[in-house]
Amino acid sequence: MGHSLLCLLGLFLLNTVIHGNAGDKPKAKLSADNTAVPVGGSVTLTCSVNPSSSSRWKYYWYKENYGVRERLWDAFFLSNDQVRVSQGGLYSCKGKRGRYCSELSQSVRIDTIVSNRPVVTLHPNWSEIYRGETITVRCEIHGGDTEWDYEWETNSMIKAPNQNEYRIRSASSSNSGNYRCKGRMKSSQHKTTEWSDSVTLTVSTSKPRATPTAQSLTIPAGGSVTLSCSVEGSAGWKFDWFRRDSVSSKAQLIRGNEANRDISVSQGGLYHCRGGRGDPVYYTEDSSNVTIMQIIPIKPPVTLQPSWPQIYSGETVTVRCEIQGGEGAQWTYEWSPAKLNTPPTSNEYRIITVTESDSGGYSCRGRRDYFFTEWSDIITLTVS
Ligand SMILES: *[C@@H]1O[C@H](CO)[C@@H](O)[C@H](O)[C@H]1NC(C)=O
Ligand SMILES: *[C@@H]1O[C@H](CO)[C@@H](O)[C@H](O)[C@H]1NC(C)=O
Repeated sequence: MGHSLLCLLGLFLLNTVIHGNAGDKPKAKLSADNTAVPVGGSVTLTCSVNPSSSSRWKYYWYKENYGVRERLWDAFFLSNDQVRVSQGGLYSCKGKRGRYCSELSQSVRIDTIVSNRPVVTLHPNWSEIYRGETITVRCEIHGGDTEWDYEWETNSMIKAPNQNEYRIRSASSSNSGNYRCKGRMKSSQHKTTEWSDSVTLTVSTSKPRATPTAQSLTIPAGGSVTLSCSVEGSAGWKFDWFRRDSVSSKAQLIRGNEANRDISVSQGGLYHCRGGRGDPVYYTEDSSNVTIMQIIPIKPPVTLQPSWPQIYSGETVTVRCEIQGGEGAQWTYEWSPAKLNTPPTSNEYRIITVTESDSGGYSCRGRRDYFFTEWSDIITLTVS
């Protein structure tokens, strides 16, 4: 105590003598070659006083323990102005010349690095995140029950708060960047972990689109086909499937939240899918439509009129396709050979004056929305 009293008095006298001004006190400055003591290593502190004048300053070192500044003893004194420390803490120094002391330096915080290594993880850990998705960036430190305060460093435009996790509710490109974290022990504020490795979060500005594929575009009578939905380039999707049973009807959800990208369908229709993932669910754009035709087990009879076997050039012939119960107007007809399919395709095809080139086999089938009948048997026209 007597020591510091001497110093205060000395300082006043010193300043008055050197500068003739009691307010302009020389102040010590402490610098360190590192802000933290690496595991098993040390940090070198250097003290200086400005203006340094001809006669030498002797330097004194201090460390704060629980808010109390004490002379530093447990350190390796390299030289008059340098000391090597291997403990974290708040360090300061001052110079003394004769009985005169400089002002105390500002405190410099030196941390001790502990061997626990933090890891940044993304939850969910999808390689690609889309704008609007929800994601959590987490700092995980393994090792016992130690409680930590967390610090983040990121070059993204939005800073992460000093907590162990950073929940991004609706990601945008300004969240893109590298994230790293470290922990500071709650029980000992000068003990920190090293920085974790950086983890890169990339928020894509595009919205992904689902793509449907079909094993076959036609469902055979009594059968089924497999449809598959995919979203390129990322993981974690579940799939919703929708079907329209006519061009003008509304799409109905037929399968929701399917983990399997493949579904089996046995009904004709206009199908599309979308992907969804996360909580809250984030949806892709709807896929394009895929038209699946279903063959229903009806074979329409095809008839020729006149029905006698011998037809001569110049006669008029009508080929007719008849779907039982199909009198309603919904059916359209498809003919073979294809040259008959000049619209409007009706259930009758009339050849006013047949020629030999009209000889051949004729067949037809009906179509209604996403259903085909089977092809009729082939009826043969022979023109002589
Ligand atoms: C995500 O985590 C799982 C296990 O939790 C792991 O198998 C997978 O490789 C990780 N994916 C990425 C992109 O880090
Ligand atoms: C799918 O078909 C429906 C009905 O024709 C139409 O409204 C919708 O725009 C189509 N979707 C796409 C992505 O083309």
